[in-house]
Formats: sequence, C-alpha cells, structure tokens
Amino acid sequence: MKPYPPKTKRQIYSLSLSIVHAWFVRIEFSQGNDTRTLSLSGHVGFDSLPDQLVSKSVQNGFSFNILCVGETGIGKSTLMNTLFNTTFEEEEASHFHERVLLRPRKYTLQESNVDLQLTIVDTVGFGDQVNKEESYKPIVDYIDAQFENFLEEELKIKRSLFSYQDTRIHICLYFITPTGHSLKSLDLVTMKKLDSKVNIIPIIAKADTVSKNELQKFKIKIMSELVSNGVQIYQFPTDDEAVAEINASMNAHLPFAVIGSSEEVQIGNKMVRGRQYPWGVVQVENESHCDFVKLREMLIRVNMLDLREQTHERHYELYRRCKLEEIGFKDTEADNEPFSLQETYVAKRREFIGELQLKEEQMRQMFVNKVKETEAELKEKERELQDRFETLKRSHLEQKKNLEEQRRDLEEQINTFNRRKVAAETLQSFQGSMGSRKDKEKKT
Ligand code: GTP
Ligand code: MG
Repeated sequence: MKPYPPKTKRQIYSLSLSIVHAWFVRIEFSQGNDTRTLSLSGHVGFDSLPDQLVSKSVQNGFSFNILCVGETGIGKSTLMNTLFNTTFEEEEASHFHERVLLRPRKYTLQESNVDLQLTIVDTVGFGDQVNKEESYKPIVDYIDAQFENFLEEELKIKRSLFSYQDTRIHICLYFITPTGHSLKSLDLVTMKKLDSKVNIIPIIAKADTVSKNELQKFKIKIMSELVSNGVQIYQFPTDDEAVAEINASMNAHLPFAVIGSSEEVQIGNKMVRGRQYPWGVVQVENESHCDFVKLREMLIRVNMLDLREQTHERHYELYRRCKLEEIGFKDTEADNEPFSLQETYVAKRREFIGELQLKEEQMRQMFVNKVKETEAELKEKERELQDRFETLKRSHLEQKKNLEEQRRDLEEQINTFNRRKVAAETLQSFQGSMGSRKDKEKKT
C-alpha cells in the first residue's frame, strides 16, 4: 500500500483554517457590509493557529470506540489484537448465554506522542441462542444508551463536553462467518437494524478457511444481498481529493476478507504475523493472502477521523433530532415563526400538569369505585352472616324444643317405672310375709 498523508492532521489543519477564516469574516463585518480583504504590512502571528490547534488536540488525546459484532469464536479478539499489534485479552466467551451481552473494555494506547483512548465493545453470546429474533436488541440499546449519555451531557446547564469521555460507537466491525455461501438472516436483520445508528464495515472472518475463488464469489454475493435488502454499510469518503482515489478503490474491495493471528512465524529471516499450516504459512499482512492491511489502513490510518465525524454528524444527529422532536422541540412553528423554547416549555408544562390532573382524577375515581365495591361486598357478607345466624338460631330453638319434649317423655317414663317398682316391691313383701305364716302353721 502506498503511503498518504495522515488524515487526522490534515483535517485538523482544515478545521483550523476555517476558524481563521471566521475570524477574518468578523473583522470584515466590523468594517460594514462590504467585504474587504486587508493585507498586513508585517507579521502578526495568527498563522500559527493551526499549529496551536494540533498541539492542543494532541495534548487532549483522542477516543475511538469499536463495536465487534460476530458469533462466539469467530475471531473478534484475535483480530483486535492483530489490528493494534498488542494483546488485549485472552478470555473466551461461553456458548451458553441466555441473551446477548455487550462488554465494553477500555484501553489507553500511545503511538509517538499521540494518546488514544480505545474502547472495544464485544457482543458476548451473539448467535448462540435458539431464538435469534431478539439478538440485535441489546446491541441497538447499547448504541442508543451511549447517544443518550452524550445528549444528556449536551443538555446540561453546566456542560463539560470538552473533557467528556465519549463512548459513542464510531465503527461496527460486523464479522461474517466464512461459509462461502450467503449471509445468514441473523446478519441481514442485525445489520439492517444497526445501519442508521452506526458506521458498519462488514468483514469476512477467518478468510483462510475459504479458497480465493470462492472468496471472490462470496464477496459479490454478500454485497448483492446487502444492496437488495437495503442495508447501508459505511462507504469510505471520496469527497476529499487527498484520499478520494484510495478510498474509492477500497470501497470496491468491501467486504474485507481478513485473517487474524496472535502468532509470529518465521519467513526467511523475518518474523511475521501469520498462521502456520502443514502446507505453508498464511501471512496476515500479505495483501495477496487477505485484506487485513486494507482494513487496518482504512480504519485506522485514513478514515479514523471521518468515522468519528460521521458518528457525530450523521448517526448522533439523527438520534438527537428524533429524541428532541419526541420531547416537543422543533425548529419553527407551524406558521413558520421561529420556535420559542420558553413557549414550548410552558405549553409542555401545562400539558404535563393537565395529564397529571387527569391521572389524579382517574385514580380518585378508581379509589371511590373500589371503596363502593368493597362496601357493597361487606354489606352482602353481613347480610349472609345475619341469615346464617337466624337459621342457626331457629334450628337451635327447634333442637331445644325437641330436647325438652324428650326430657318430659323420659321423666314420664321414670315416674311410671318408679310407680311400677314400688308396686312390685309391695307385692314382693306381701308375698314374703304370707309365705312365712304358712311355714309356721305347718310346724305347729
Ligand atoms: P469469543 O470472544 O469467545 O466469542 O471468541 P472470539 O470471537 O473473540 O474469537 P477468538 O479471537 O478468541 O478466536 C477463536 C479461535 O479462532 C482461536 O482459536 C483463534 O486462533 C481462531 N482464529 C482467530 N482468527 C482466525 C483466523 O483468521 N483464521 C483461523 N483459521 N482461525 C482464527
Ligand atoms: Mg473474544
């Protein structure tokens, strides 16, 4: 690959020039409505503004946030290690997560005197669930949450955007399984859901597992499927002539077919990153073996700033617009009059208080109804209890009456029995005395 000027510095220069231009414009306006360009008769020194800006930006450092979306074990971590020529982590994900988890990890990298705050967000468990319908949701939620954090900071009275730790995702590397066949529906659905929220670069992972011819056909198939399903992937910008040519040619190479490796293999007298096979070595940085170098150049060296800008100007702007419209903000009123924040605030407050009062009234009504219902239920229960009491009282009186009758019967029987007993005893004693008299008469 041919070297080209680093874009970061170039764009910072163009930004600083626009600041200088704005300054001139202010001087010109102070002279009246006609634009006058003044030539200076000596050196003033504001031509150092771009340098001041570069120096300040370098001092503050840069942040870059990468989201890796791909199935478990597809080579996400290995590729990140290979891209940044370091070892970030070794931990493997399990295949048994119930849902997709987003795991951000932060690193600070330094190259020359430039600090980079790098965040790599991993999709743990992506593609492992039996039902994959909801797999994209946690990813969308994560991206939105980062936009929301930024928006909240922006809307604060005391903002500190300059020192704000930006966590918005600048690039989503979408890892495609090297089937050589076609995209899975999970890939299409996920990319479609993400394309308005993040810059997507699709990459074919483990490209060494597919032959060169198959890879070419696979790339064409993927691109045609993306187009026919209306998935918008990130296009390297061609509006800047310094990089227009290289970016245009790289757009034609998408999706990049990449190989990752954490091993170094000896080739001649050089150690290179590669994968050793019984039949030879696949070199990661060899452009005839894979597109790894293309990806690294495009992602890090040429378009890092554009990815950050696109995130802010396109994706975040869309999120912000929808969110503010949802809240009730607008740029102009229906009659094209400028929008008044104060009036909207008052109207929204009135609307909110109205809703609150309505809710309060509904709740009060609900409470009254509930009390009435409970009162009616209690009355019904009381009536039932009274009925039961009356029934029990009646049956108790009935039983008492019966028992009284039985008692009277028994007393009658006892009296009869006693009378009979007395009669029997009298009879018995009479018979006894008669018997002893007869015995005496016989003896005499
Ligand atoms: P999880 O974080 O567990 O989801 O996995 P991952 O997507 O981070 O994959 P990882 O980088 O851990 O790689 C998984 C396996 O694939 C390891 O054995 C790697 O050596 C291997 N691997 C990674 N990249 C490549 C590649 O480009 N080609 C081949 N053939 N194997 C690769
Ligand atoms: Mg990993």
